[in-house]
Amino acid sequence: MTDPLFDLTGRRVLLTGAGGALGSVMARAFAERGAHVAVHDLSAERAAPVVEAIQAAGGQAVAVVGDVSTAEGSSDVVRQGADVLGGLDVLLNGVGINRRKPMEDVTPEDFDAIVSVNLRAIYFASQAAHAIMRPQGRGCIVNLSSLSARFSFNTISVYAATKAGVTSLTRSCAREWAVDGIRVNAIEPFVIKTEFTKPLWGEDHRQRWFDHITPVGRLGAPEDLIGSVVYLASDASSWVTGQTIVLDGGLTAGADWDAFRDL
Ligand SMILES: NC(=O)c1ccc[n+]([C@@H]2O[C@H](COP(=O)([O-])OP(=O)(O)OC[C@H]3O[C@@H](n4cnc5c(N)ncnc54)[C@H](O)[C@@H]3O)[C@@H](O)[C@H]2O)c1
Repeated sequence: MTDPLFDLTGRRVLLTGAGGALGSVMARAFAERGAHVAVHDLSAERAAPVVEAIQAAGGQAVAVVGDVSTAEGSSDVVRQGADVLGGLDVLLNGVGINRRKPMEDVTPEDFDAIVSVNLRAIYFASQAAHAIMRPQGRGCIVNLSSLSARFSFNTISVYAATKAGVTSLTRSCAREWAVDGIRVNAIEPFVIKTEFTKPLWGEDHRQRWFDHITPVGRLGAPEDLIGSVVYLASDASSWVTGQTIVLDGGLTAGADWDAFRDL
């Protein structure tokens, strides 16, 4: 029997960027827990396999297609999602892009492209979700931020700034919309092993370095995010809003005094 605190049966959930590595795992996790999910991505080709896998497993899923890089596009995706679901209980803002470059090589076009998808899309999707959730008197938004919001690495300056923006936006939305019964929280994962991050961990020596600096001894897998996302989307977190859960295998808990004894 499902614990009622974590029960998602019948919840109408829109996940943006859910044709991707993390969003697709989250979409399946929601569907396995009885939610009705709308799987959004840029193209039908990216959303369809996720929808088909959920349906084949007996879950309920529909595709939503649209480019969220404009404010109008982002709002439209949320309205489409709510239309096909018959309302909206949970919005998971999962869409995100990166272009890894040293700061001196970043162009204004790079900057605008990353900001438009990682920050502006989240802002206007959340605004559109609020318009739908407010009359319902309840709703929940979960943002996929990143540990880079607080702990940066080289070549991700614009990405990190947008994720700090998402974490900050999470607090602003929570503050303004609590009165409407809408909770807004975020997760900040460290590197999760996906195609998105393969350039970082793909070579053996890089993998060993990550395993070494991460106290639990390994990088994250997409499945490591499920528990926190389900918690934030369910009644188990009913008094939690404006918060961010850091999922980093202990990276920011502290360092190892002996790590450099061979230097
Ligand atoms: N993978 C990681 O290690 C990691 C760590 C921390 C945070 N994140 C965040 O998690 C989220 C998902 O990451 P992922 O690894 O699944 O990435 P991914 O590239 O696999 O998925 C992102 C999806 O967004 C879609 N998308 C991109 N631009 C779009 C646009 N303009 N309109 C509509 N859809 C668009 C892509 O088609 C893709 O399917 C991102 O926000 C990312 O910043 C990832």
